[in-house]
Amino acid sequence: MSVLLTGGCGFIGSHCAIELLKCNVNVILLDNFSNSNKSILKKLKKITGKKIVCYNKNINEKIDFIFKKHNIKCVIHFAAYKAVGESVQDPLKYYDNNISAFISLLKVMRRNNVNKILFSSSATIYGHGNGKPLTENDPPCILNPYGRTKLFGEEILKDVSKAYNIKVICLRYFNPVGCHSSGLIGDNPKAPNNLFPVIASVINGKKESLDIYGDDYNTIDGTGVRDYIHVSDLARGHFAAYNYFNYMANDFEIFNLGTGTGYSVLQIIKEFEQQGVKIPYEIKPRREGDAAQVVADPEKAYLYLGFSTEHPLKDMVRDTLNFIKNNK
Ligand code: WQD
Repeated sequence: MSVLLTGGCGFIGSHCAIELLKCNVNVILLDNFSNSNKSILKKLKKITGKKIVCYNKNINEKIDFIFKKHNIKCVIHFAAYKAVGESVQDPLKYYDNNISAFISLLKVMRRNNVNKILFSSSATIYGHGNGKPLTENDPPCILNPYGRTKLFGEEILKDVSKAYNIKVICLRYFNPVGCHSSGLIGDNPKAPNNLFPVIASVINGKKESLDIYGDDYNTIDGTGVRDYIHVSDLARGHFAAYNYFNYMANDFEIFNLGTGTGYSVLQIIKEFEQQGVKIPYEIKPRREGDAAQVVADPEKAYLYLGFSTEHPLKDMVRDTLNFIKNNK
């Protein structure tokens, strides 16, 4: 019996593969390498000591054979485009991949009697939020096509869960950052636009200085506040959710995965400097669609999944610097 990780060679997927293997869950990866690299497989083998089976496929190709060959009993669905700005420029690319291809995947699951899915969702669904720690009951506030594909994905799964008795857990990630402690794998996007990868491009000389998008928000120092969660904590949260399938009373649940603590951009920069790395920056106008503060209320994941984060910001910065050093 195996678990299929779509997008399993990506930043979150690869860290989850490590965590699941550590917990003796057999994983099969599927990835089209549109935002990841085949070289990750060698690194995963080095970290886990196991050769992981990976299929270079799109989720809307003929993949029934994978389900039959590996007796797939659960799907963890990471494979989706996730660049907010790009989704505004090219919404059809996002609806095609994040919705149409996702529906093909659900049909394959049905044909192969797979009745458990963990869905990679996002705090983007909360949009501007309400300035308070956000719970799963807070209303969606969709600001862009990417966020809309995540909300639609959850809504589709609500109907699918009810109609076909499929157990569904949606995990709304806040801001995943950091890297595996080995320094072998981390967040290395082809076109960085999130804060940590952009800081990494300043550190490795690809970018002169960090543009801070606005310092006039109603926050501790005027810069944007976010709930950064170490990717290894996020991976543990996926195992906790996978485990929860055996106990869940309802067939559909949503969980926020965050720390409950927010940090501003300037506070992040300060932590890098406290670890010996100066980050030159310039204050620029606000980025369209940005919220002042997006922080999780992590209580439901603690109460239902027994999950809470272990890595403080210090570890997130330390591991990011370790990854940059190892991947110059
Ligand atoms: C964080 C803070 C920026 C870059 C995004 C996606 C969301 C999710 C997480 C997938 C903000 C500031 C950033 C820079 C900056 N991904 N910033 N200069 O926007 O909270 O969320 O990533 O689900 O979909 O929306 O993350 O890292 O882009 O920004 O000042 O060059 O850093 O203004 O305050 P965000 P981010």
